[in-house]
Amino acid sequence: MARPRVLIDTDPGVDDAVAILLALASPEIDVVGIVAVAGNVPLEKTALNARRIVELAGRHDVPVAAGCGEPLSEYLGEDSVVHGHDGLGDLDWDEPAVTLDPRHGVELIADLIRQGPLTIVAIGPLTNLAVLLQRHPGIEGGVDHLVIMGGASFEGNVTPAAEFNIWADPEAAQLVFAADWRITLMPLDLTHQAYLNDDDLDYFSSLGSEVGRRIAAMLEPYAQFHDRWYGNRDVIMHDAMAVYELLDSAAIDKQGVRLAVETNGVHSRGATFIDRRREHAQSRVRVGVRVDNDRFRSLLRERLATYRD
Ligand code: BDR
Ligand code: CA
Repeated sequence: MARPRVLIDTDPGVDDAVAILLALASPEIDVVGIVAVAGNVPLEKTALNARRIVELAGRHDVPVAAGCGEPLSEYLGEDSVVHGHDGLGDLDWDEPAVTLDPRHGVELIADLIRQGPLTIVAIGPLTNLAVLLQRHPGIEGGVDHLVIMGGASFEGNVTPAAEFNIWADPEAAQLVFAADWRITLMPLDLTHQAYLNDDDLDYFSSLGSEVGRRIAAMLEPYAQFHDRWYGNRDVIMHDAMAVYELLDSAAIDKQGVRLAVETNGVHSRGATFIDRRREHAQSRVRVGVRVDNDRFRSLLRERLATYRD
C-alpha cells in the first residue's frame, strides 16, 4: 500500500516540534506539507517556528505555508508562555533558509487535496480547516483521514472545561466536527498517558546531534512549566499522539463517538462533549482512549536518533 500523504496543520509549540520531527523521520508516512496557524503564539511566530523545525530536520523539500492568524470569532486568551515567548522554549536560532510557500496555508491544503487523497494531522486550533471547509464546500471528500489533537472528556487545561486547541477557536471546531470526514481525536484524557521523563531528555542530549540537543533544550522549560502547574516533570506529548496514530495505530485503543463543542457557555466555552454511548460504536468519528506509553517512547527515541548532523 502507498504511504499516506500527510499534511500537518500546526502552531509550534514545543510538543508540535516533537510531533513534526517524529513525522519527518518516519517511513510509514509521506509528509507533503506543513501549514502554520495562530495558537500557542501568534501566526508570525508559529510560521517561523515551522520553518525552523523543517530546517532542523534538513527537509527543504517540504513546503511550509502560513495559514490563518485569527480565529473565526474572538480570541479570549493572552499570549501564552507555556512554550516560551517564541513558542519553542526561547533558544537561539539562525534565520532558517527554508522560506514560506507563497500560497495561503488554506490554499496549500486545498491544492494538496486536489493532487490526491490526503491525511491531515491537526495539532493546533482548527481555524485553517474550518476556513478550508468554508471556501471549498465538499472538499472533505478528498481527505482520507483527519487526526486531531484536541478536546477533553474529563478536565481541560485552559479552563476546567476546555482544552487549548478547541478553546482557542470553538467555532472552527464546531464546523470541523460537523463535516463528513473520518476523524480520530486525541483528547487530553489520552495524551496525558503519553509522557517523557528526565531519562528521555538525557537520552536526546546524549544523541550528539543538533536535533537531539535542541529537543532536550526545548523540552526542559516545558518540563519545568509542568512541574509548576501539576507538581511533576512529566513532559506530555499531546501532539505526537496524532502522528503516532499513523505510525502504530495498534498501540492506541479507540472507540466510536459523537462529538460536540460548546461555543456559548459562560464557564464552558470550548468544552468538548464526547458521547461514548454504544449507538456511536461504529461511527467514523473515533477518540483515542488508551496508549501504550513505553511503546511510544521507544519509537520516538528510535526515530529521533536517525537525525544526524
Ligand atoms: C495542545 O495545546 C498546545 O499547547 C499543545 O501544542 C497541544 O497542541 C494541548 O492542549
Ligand atoms: Ca499544538
